[in-house]
Amino acid sequence: MNITFLGAGYVGLVSGIMLSHFGYNIQFIDQNSQIISSLKNSKLHIYEPKLDSYFLKSVQLGSVEFTDNYNDLRDNTQVIFITVGTPSLASSGNTNLSYVFDAIDSIITNVSSDCIIVVKSTVPPGTCQSIADYLSPKVLGITIVSNPEFLSEGNAVDDFLNPDRIIIGSDDHRSAAFIEQIYQPIVEKQNKLIPIIKTNFATSELIKYASNTFLATKIAFINEMANLCEKIDADIEQLSLGVGLDARIGKAFLKSGPGFGGSCFPKDILSLSKLAKFYNLESCITNATITANEKRPSDMVRKIHNILDDNIDGKVIAILGLAFKAGTDDIRNSPAVEIIKLLCNKGAHIQSYDPAVHICHDLPQITYTRSAIGACVNADALIIITEWPEFTELDFDHIYTILKNPIIIDMRNILNAKELRSKNFKYYAIGQKY
Ligand code: UGA
Repeated sequence: MNITFLGAGYVGLVSGIMLSHFGYNIQFIDQNSQIISSLKNSKLHIYEPKLDSYFLKSVQLGSVEFTDNYNDLRDNTQVIFITVGTPSLASSGNTNLSYVFDAIDSIITNVSSDCIIVVKSTVPPGTCQSIADYLSPKVLGITIVSNPEFLSEGNAVDDFLNPDRIIIGSDDHRSAAFIEQIYQPIVEKQNKLIPIIKTNFATSELIKYASNTFLATKIAFINEMANLCEKIDADIEQLSLGVGLDARIGKAFLKSGPGFGGSCFPKDILSLSKLAKFYNLESCITNATITANEKRPSDMVRKIHNILDDNIDGKVIAILGLAFKAGTDDIRNSPAVEIIKLLCNKGAHIQSYDPAVHICHDLPQITYTRSAIGACVNADALIIITEWPEFTELDFDHIYTILKNPIIIDMRNILNAKELRSKNFKYYAIGQKY
């Protein structure tokens, strides 16, 4: 079967490469010629654990091809996945759907045979219906399916192979059944039943927004609890466990930290809030989650300020972690970037290290080091912002000798407090009294 992906970013690339292992011929089209030339040279432009080996196998098998020209869209393609970006518009916060509609226009121009367009990009409810309305007077034989993705960066390959559910939204039963068939190899591979929910466009589109917003709300809530824990000498780790072990609540996404970031949560919850506003509905919970998370970096800086005796100006601070979470080189909406900006405004000099992010163009004023140890040299404090596992393996005896002050602020609670305190560090975690 011939399948085309319009958009070779995160979602398109992971989904397309993985589908190519089920015997489908995958064409990737992306207007970014740098991305395409990198892929043609067998080099992935994104960092995603496990993806590289699948990609190289697909290249060897000849089951993937790449082009930067929409006019190369194969006329005999049966399914076209739209996996272009849907960023927020800076002016209004509404979702920018121009890339989606550019992709649709390219399909109208280049495809003359019947095909199914699958919208995998995260789009506000109503978009698939608008696409169907836009297409219907112009072309016959093209149907639309909404099929949101639930891949999380750093775990995308496993998420693809082992989904909690597959959502298929369409008003055309045959198209929905066809797309369900595409995922059959995944369903067969797993020993457990993978629920497939077939529904209408709007429900499918909204499931994606509601899922991301609910998860983000869990995080915002647990961060609020962490603030309280710090005041009353309660422990957020035990609290999260105690709350999460209630099967009705669940343990996932109850890890307190510097706030959620990335290219999805902040954008999607804003979009959901805009959607409710459009219908004159109040979205108290969604808006509270947005506000709470926007405040999180300044809460973190206030904490640093207190620990450094209200004196950040002129201090050298080692920051470990720039990515918005471990397992990715993505710094979009990364709490680390926001926290560093605030610290720089207060006169701090930052020495930072991240295993996957070597430079952040938004932060030209800071020093980038090639190792965690390098970042710690002569620093007044060491702050962990991203939970890279390698930070737990550091030689803290050595770090003790190179820090100017033995202060560690662990914003992900990944280090062993007892051990570090026994080595005479002043160790501060999140959600624990200090
Ligand atoms: C998220 C969703 O988890 C995916 O299901 C979805 O497909 C994706 O968005 C998307 O819409 O494309 P992702 O943004 O890659 O995936 O990352 P998450 O693992 O969900 O983490 C998001 C943020 O929440 C990160 O900043 C992370 O550090 C933070 N987080 C997560 C916490 O602070 N605590 C937690 O317990 C979990």
